[in-house]
Amino acid sequence: MKPKVLITREFIPEVIEYLKKHVELEIGAINRGLLKEELIEKIKDKEGIICLLTDRIDKEIMDSAPRLKIIANCAVGYDNIDVGYAKAKGIYVTNTPGVLTEATADLTWALILAVARRIPQADLFTRQKKFKGWSLTLFLGKEIFGKKLGIIGLGRIGKAVAKRAKGFNMEVFYYDIKRIPEREEKELNVSYLSLDELLRNSDIVTIHTSLNETSYHLISAEKIKLLKKDAILVNVARGPVIDEEALATALEEGKIWGAGLDVYENEPQINEKLLKLENVILLPHIGSATEETRYKMAMTAAENLLLALHGKKPKNLVW
Ligand code: GLV
Repeated sequence: MKPKVLITREFIPEVIEYLKKHVELEIGAINRGLLKEELIEKIKDKEGIICLLTDRIDKEIMDSAPRLKIIANCAVGYDNIDVGYAKAKGIYVTNTPGVLTEATADLTWALILAVARRIPQADLFTRQKKFKGWSLTLFLGKEIFGKKLGIIGLGRIGKAVAKRAKGFNMEVFYYDIKRIPEREEKELNVSYLSLDELLRNSDIVTIHTSLNETSYHLISAEKIKLLKKDAILVNVARGPVIDEEALATALEEGKIWGAGLDVYENEPQINEKLLKLENVILLPHIGSATEETRYKMAMTAAENLLLALHGKKPKNLVW
């Protein structure tokens, strides 16, 4: 008999077809996330689950699934899962690292450039037929080339962002809980700074750290005050890394020049103040959203799931 598996919501069709050869599959819901009660009901008889970062997999969910062997998260971040509890119960937890690095680094740069050059605002202006001819002062933005970039969290994605910065001839700083070897710093052309020094000295700051107890509100109201008046802040990691209310206030009061956000503190809700501001670009958590990358993420989650169900250690175990 094939093992029973739950995928919490709609998924990549080719990967569903592949999985169906090996498991008995239930798809939770289409076009929405499952409610907690639904998840508890559906996971009861399952040996594996493929979930998304929007599914909160807590003790209660795990306790209602006595046969569960693996929680395969289709995301690199796994702050939506109580990993400690899963480990204590011997349930594997996996993520999808590596495959989304380049797509997320690209989106970071898309946001940097869009904020600095006010691309969405200029597009809207043009569509609204307000373009009446070239002007020396129309949509003045900020120069990126040769500026100082501060990267918070120099993991895979942070490093991919640093590599792209070479093309912009930037001086690149980074802050992380651990420093990378000097040889690698040289190769990447990055130098280590304390968080405060990085915030004080960078023209553009991008965030790539995972969300955990130490990174929650890492960018607090106090830290935001350290940013330059014409700084640009970009977050493609997890919303709660920034105190969103404090950032909204700083943007509203013109304390920094602009921000680009792909993630929010209470996703999918967005601070009302941010929604009204012109100097922030807001994206719907699409960091890894390319056809190629989303396929690879889904396949990676499927492979992790199948390894665990076949009694093997999955490749991307996070504990
Ligand atoms: C996206 O945010 C991910 O963690 O994969």
